[in-house]
Formats: sequence, structure tokens, C-alpha cells
Amino acid sequence: MVNPMYLTPEEEAMYDGQEGPVVEKSMEILVALGDIYGARKMVDISSAQISGVSYKTIGDAGLEYLEEFAATGVKVKVPSTLNPAGIDLNQWQELGFPKDFAQKQRRIIDAYQKMGISTTCTCTPYLVGNVPTLGSHIAWSESSAVCYANSVLGARTNREGGPGALAAAICGKTAEYGYHLDRERKANFLFEVETYLKGVDYGALGYFVGKIVGNGVPYFRLRNSPSVNDLKSLGAALASSGAVALYHVEKVTPEYEEALNEKEELETINVDRKEIDESSHTLSNTNKEPDLICLGCPHASLEEIKSITEIIDGHKLNIPLWVCTSISVKAAADHMGYTKIIEKAGGKVVCDTCMVVAPMEELGFQVIGVDSAKAANYVPTMCGLDVVYDDLEKLIKRK
Ligand code: F3S
Repeated sequence: MVNPMYLTPEEEAMYDGQEGPVVEKSMEILVALGDIYGARKMVDISSAQISGVSYKTIGDAGLEYLEEFAATGVKVKVPSTLNPAGIDLNQWQELGFPKDFAQKQRRIIDAYQKMGISTTCTCTPYLVGNVPTLGSHIAWSESSAVCYANSVLGARTNREGGPGALAAAICGKTAEYGYHLDRERKANFLFEVETYLKGVDYGALGYFVGKIVGNGVPYFRLRNSPSVNDLKSLGAALASSGAVALYHVEKVTPEYEEALNEKEELETINVDRKEIDESSHTLSNTNKEPDLICLGCPHASLEEIKSITEIIDGHKLNIPLWVCTSISVKAAADHMGYTKIIEKAGGKVVCDTCMVVAPMEELGFQVIGVDSAKAANYVPTMCGLDVVYDDLEKLIKRK
């Protein structure tokens, strides 16, 4: 086969199988992707983030594939982290997860661990030490994390699939196309947001805009200055209703100045309170009351957990509450006494998993209350359950 991509001698050696069959197969995947998308060469990556972890999404076929890979002794070449799994690896029994599911999930995690991947199991790897620098090339495959890394951190990644990100981690390389290139990082829509935003408004805005731009690059002019947690929610929503991998916020995100092409007038769309409220409304698919409130999509930061404790401290919750996060952030929440406050009110800090990739449909819940537009978008399709989208405080205080 004629290979139009330039490969260095080191890359050629991997491609020719000199580092073993798994590296060879991984390089073949990267070259095939590069050929499809017109890449001229490979770039070194500084980290990988790998999805395809929950047994619910990859099943027995995925489990066997990973165990075969791991059995060869292959190791990743760059720091690599895992997306959420289908269970809380420590608390699965008390949360009621099925034993058979948990055992298979454990085998998946063990296979990844054998390959040298950090099994922190989170969609916010940037909160647990996998923090790429501005301009660095990475291969990440969790869509909300991709959006955060490209937009807020200014790193460079495409929306990798799980196998592509694993192949990149194994080779320490990825093909240079898409968001690795300056020209692909320009904005192609301008959104003038005429209303002040707070709380779930950011998710509603992302959901609204993602549907308009598809895989485009939106540029926002906002009236107020969003926090990093607001940007996390906005990106997750953009990446779920559309296929957005990068957005810019004027005077906030690091590449906003280069994002506009001076010679080109962008299509401008005004967004007002009406669009935000309608979008919020659409995200609930039922009038029924939730029988579980699930927060932390993307996985909660310590600040977000702190905000939850400020609302519930001293109260007894009427509805069970899960706050999903990573094991590292939970350790900090334990240290700060936040976990105790949440448990005293009747909630749980749940690690390693979330309301979408866990088998919620097998745990007896019917309606989940969420403050995340991404979760509201995916729970009905991924779990077959109803969903209520509302502000954190309103959800928690529901009777
Ligand atoms: Fe993370 Fe699960 Fe939401 S993977 S972004 S918490 S759907």
C-alpha cells in the first residue's frame, strides 16, 4: 500500500512491527486515520485520555480485546488516564450494582492498568493531574474533556474514539490533522449572548448552540465572566448536542484573539433569555418527580462539591443524591469534611462512574434529576430513564 504520510524512521519501525504486534497494529490505526483525514505527518503527544471503559458500553467483545492487548505486555508511552467506568470500584456493593457486571468491569480496569494507564476513571482528567499545556498535542477521547482541553487549556486534540486514543497512547503519537492545525482552530459562528447567565444556563446555552453548529467552532461574546466550572458545563453540552471540540469565549479562553479571521465576517446569532429558557425546558422530558438526583456531569470539582455542601448542610434530603466525581477529588472532599456532610444529609459521593455509563436502568430508578445538559441529553437514550433538568439548589430542595 502506498503510504502518503511522512513517517520518521522511529515511526516506520513501529509501523513495520519492530516493537511488536500491538504497537504495529496501533500504528496502523493511526496511519489509517491520518490517511482518511489527509494528515501529512505524525506529532508527538504529551498525554492520552481513553474512553471505552464501562462494561455497559464495550461489553464482552471490548473486554476480550483489552485483555488480549494487555497480555502481550505492551505499555503506553505517555501519561494516560481513563474515562469513567460502569461502577464505583470501591462502593459498588453498597450502591447496588450487579455482581457479574462489577466483576467484568474490574477485569477491564485491570487490563488498562497492566498497560500502564492511570485508572483514576474520570471525565475530568484535568482536575486530577492530566493537565496539558497551551499548544501541546494530546489524544483525548472523552468529548467533554476534549472540549475543555482545546478551549480552556488551549491544548490540541481531535475527538478521538476509544481505540484511536489507546493506539495514540501506545505509540506516543497521533496523526496531525483537524484541531492539531492552526487553520482548523478558527471560529466559524459568532454567538452574541444578550442575557446574563448563571447555573444551568451554561448547559442550556451549550445545548442550544451545539445543535446549530454541529462540528463547527463557536465564538461567544458573553455579558458575564464564566467560572471554570461554568466552562466545563458549557463545553460538555456543546459536545453532546453537537460534535463541538473547540469553542472560544471573548476575553476568557486563551486563543480567542487568533480565533477570528479578520478578512471574514462570521455568521452572527443572537441568543437571549427566551432561547436559554426554552432550551432548559426541552432538556426535561417528564413532569414526574425524580427518584434520584445525580450531580457531577462532567465529574464534580472540589469547588462544586463544596457548593453542594453549603446547600444541604444540616438538612435531610427527600430524594437520594449521588455526587459523581473522581477518586482523587473524593479524597480531597473527605479531607475537607464535605463527604461527611453529604452522607449525613442522606447522599453519597460516588466515584469512578456516572449516571450515563453506569447501568442505572438495572438499579430500579425511573426519573433522574440532573443539573447537566449533557446528562439530560444522554440519560434517556443511554439508560432509558426519564430526566428532569434543573438548578442544583432547586433539585436538592425538591419535596
Ligand atoms: Fe462524564 Fe459521564 Fe457526564 S462520562 S461528562 S459524567 S456523561
